[in-house]
Amino acid sequence: MDKNFNSFGKNITFATFGGSHDEYIEARALGFPKGFKIDMQKLLAFMKRRAPGNAAFSTPRKEDDEPVFVSGVDGDLVTNGDEMIIRIYSKNMRSSAYKDVHDIPRPSHADYPAMVKYGENVDLRGGGHFSGRLTALFCAFGGICIQYLEKNGVSLFSHIYSVGNVNDIPFSLADVGEKEKSALSDKIFPTLDENAGEKMRELIASARAKGDSVGGILECAIIGLPVGLGEHMFASVEARISDMAFALPAVKGVEFGRGFESSRLFGSENNDPFVTDGKTVKTLTNNCGGILGGMTDGMPIVFRAAFKPTPSIAAEQDSVSLSKMENVKLSIVGRHDPCVVPRAAAALEGAAAIATLDLWLDEMNNDGGGMSVPLNASNGDHNESQGLSELRAAIDRCDRTIVEALKERMKAASGVAEYKKKNGLPVLDKKREEQLLEKIRLLAGDEYAEYFVEIYKAVLKTSKDFQKNKIDSES
Ligand SMILES: Cc1cc2nc3c(=O)[nH]c(=O)nc-3n(C[C@H](O)[C@H](O)[C@H](O)COP(=O)(O)O)c2cc1C
Repeated sequence: MDKNFNSFGKNITFATFGGSHDEYIEARALGFPKGFKIDMQKLLAFMKRRAPGNAAFSTPRKEDDEPVFVSGVDGDLVTNGDEMIIRIYSKNMRSSAYKDVHDIPRPSHADYPAMVKYGENVDLRGGGHFSGRLTALFCAFGGICIQYLEKNGVSLFSHIYSVGNVNDIPFSLADVGEKEKSALSDKIFPTLDENAGEKMRELIASARAKGDSVGGILECAIIGLPVGLGEHMFASVEARISDMAFALPAVKGVEFGRGFESSRLFGSENNDPFVTDGKTVKTLTNNCGGILGGMTDGMPIVFRAAFKPTPSIAAEQDSVSLSKMENVKLSIVGRHDPCVVPRAAAALEGAAAIATLDLWLDEMNNDGGGMSVPLNASNGDHNESQGLSELRAAIDRCDRTIVEALKERMKAASGVAEYKKKNGLPVLDKKREEQLLEKIRLLAGDEYAEYFVEIYKAVLKTSKDFQKNKIDSES
């Protein structure tokens, strides 16, 4: 896939294809790290949180939402570095409800501008490419990104902050963490306060009964990111997370930390004071939502996404017959979510995870060009920081090569362990070790010989331990 203007990402390229009533919809993603084992059960459970037809507050259209990997993974679901193509087949379409959509556009849906832009042939059945169905792809690929981030100590979760005027307990900006994560885990209607959740469900049910719909806000937290991810301007953390959040249909606003509210505060109220325990630095409050100067500051990232009420409602509305150029009344039939927010929670988590992984990979893929305009107090500082970042990038590149080579070495060592076990040979082969160290000394040359020998002694020890563990565990 070429990077096209309707795709996301700097290190990862993510794009979606297909429409709601096509045989399948498809996600394509480039740049996901190689060698990662996907946990399919976990992914299916995650996708189920968004899948339609599972609850009274969602559309009755029932779909299984099972991801089919066309490429990007090997047979045992280990990523292979190729473009990841994920398909989700559609089974339960009812296109008859959309026969008039080309003539009478649904207010506040994408029908009108899509027809003007793409002409008569644009497929708007079920909302076409503009449908909430496409967010299943954000869950499929985003769910894999969540698994990868989790393996690297980063947690990401969300709750329904509000539906209409009913509010859940907001995340505590400075302290949100594992407690909230486990309280929310895998809930299909994720609220911290069960009573608030009940009231929200009642509000959704009453809107549906009146042929209406209702909007709401999701709040999402990302915990465990190091300080300094993101760039200070165009590739800021805010820009990249909002880019993905706004990709979700029906999102009309995104704010971080105290967000819009902070504009009403004094600096003394809004500033987040720094404190230290002698080892680490943190802030007492987190009004900035974990982001300063476009970069992570080590505190939780907390952001909110506002979803408008579902546009397709049964109640009568004004629209226009484009063929007759007359004002008409419209009452929408078909199966729709009376509130998109509960199903969008997993989609927003997926979207945020894709953005977070993209940020995370800045470090790995940093070629020294990340800071396109280096931070500079003076020209001297500028050159120094640019020089340092280039040198660090060179070190990062070397480390990547070394890690890949070490992985190959461990695989080979594992083969040796099997051979030794089969033939009853001991793990330690002192003569071979001495020969190896001598070879390293020669390869390294005079300047580095002693250093490299030390490094290799550690490698050989690790390799022996690994072989021994392997033999012990299998015997
Ligand atoms: C999970 C999810 C489910 C949605 N379900 C519906 C739906 O059933 N009916 C509908 O009219 N819009 C639904 N939408 C919203 C529309 O897709 C969206 O309003 C439309 O594409 C116009 O885009 P915009 O609101 O971003 O301007 C849903 C959105 C999401 C995120």
